Amino acid sequence: MHHTNGNSKNERILVIGLGQIGYSNAEYMTSLGLHVDGFDISEKAIHRALRSGVIENAAKDFSNYDYYIICVSTHNPDDMFIPHLDGLFDVASRISREGKTGALVGIDSTITRGTTHKIAAILRHRLHVVHVPHRFYSKERQDHGVRQTRVAGGFDACCLEKAGHFYGEVLGIPLHQVRSAEIAELCKIVENSYRFMEIAFAEELKIFCDRSGLDFNMLKEAINTKWNVKILDAKDGIGGHCLPKDSQMFLNLERSLLSTSIIDAAKKVDSEYRLHLSNLPSISPVQLETDVNVH
Ligand SMILES: NC(=O)c1ccc[n+]([C@@H]2O[C@H](COP(=O)([O-])OP(=O)(O)OC[C@H]3O[C@@H](n4cnc5c(N)ncnc54)[C@H](O)[C@@H]3O)[C@@H](O)[C@H]2O)c1
Repeated sequence: MHHTNGNSKNERILVIGLGQIGYSNAEYMTSLGLHVDGFDISEKAIHRALRSGVIENAAKDFSNYDYYIICVSTHNPDDMFIPHLDGLFDVASRISREGKTGALVGIDSTITRGTTHKIAAILRHRLHVVHVPHRFYSKERQDHGVRQTRVAGGFDACCLEKAGHFYGEVLGIPLHQVRSAEIAELCKIVENSYRFMEIAFAEELKIFCDRSGLDFNMLKEAINTKWNVKILDAKDGIGGHCLPKDSQMFLNLERSLLSTSIIDAAKKVDSEYRLHLSNLPSISPVQLETDVNVH
């Protein structure tokens, strides 16, 4: 186990948002002997964290914490494929009213370009702000859980220094520090866009094989004997709230800059693949457009 220095044991951490990421963060921090409280708009999420002892207390207010670690969801509650940052800004407003001057606000949630600066503006930089996007993978939490290499970008140099202390030294998370918060923001949504594109390519090949009377797995295994190629599996379509939403964040940024996008094409392929799986009759480009707008 990683050992923390004496001072940090007296400091107080507030984890805001106790879903998959917040709960796992709180669990890890508590295992280091740190003082961790939690807050969530869901009573259920708070009770789960209290019951299992990953937080000490449910926060009554946001005053007097040294670290505010934001782990709230950033997708639309009615459609998990659509990005939605209102909850995050609500949290920032409350920290702005109640938070301790000079404390660190760490944004672990996935956000789009410019969000860290907006949060720092809401806080009037009275607190430090850093974005350290999470890379949590629940199926491999030992190797790819809370403590894995993460990118950190600060609003300002003083913010990044604070992040180096807390995430790096106190939590023992290997950090790749970047001077620009925007690079950290882009890094997360681009890495998930890249993953989305790789899966969509496998889906495209699978549709191609099915419609051409070829065995996709046989083709994939043959191709993957090449040293620099790795075709992925084509499964049930690209689900979960991370890859679709994060690639949508990137696509929204691209729209005004490029007329053609591989990510846009990948989303269309994924939609076609879902229809293919459900054995619907083949679709026209017009229907495909409509379907893609749902994402
Ligand atoms: N789950 C993953 O594997 C993973 C990996 C990397 C990044 N992320 C990112 O981390 C963030 C959180 O993901 P998650 O999987 O933990 O989501 P989740 O849905 O499991 O949990 C989010 C929690 O935030 C709470 N919440 C929402 N709005 C709130 C508000 N205004 N104030 C307080 N609490 C609020 C919800 O009640 C919920 O308990 C997202 O941005 C996600 O993209 C998730």
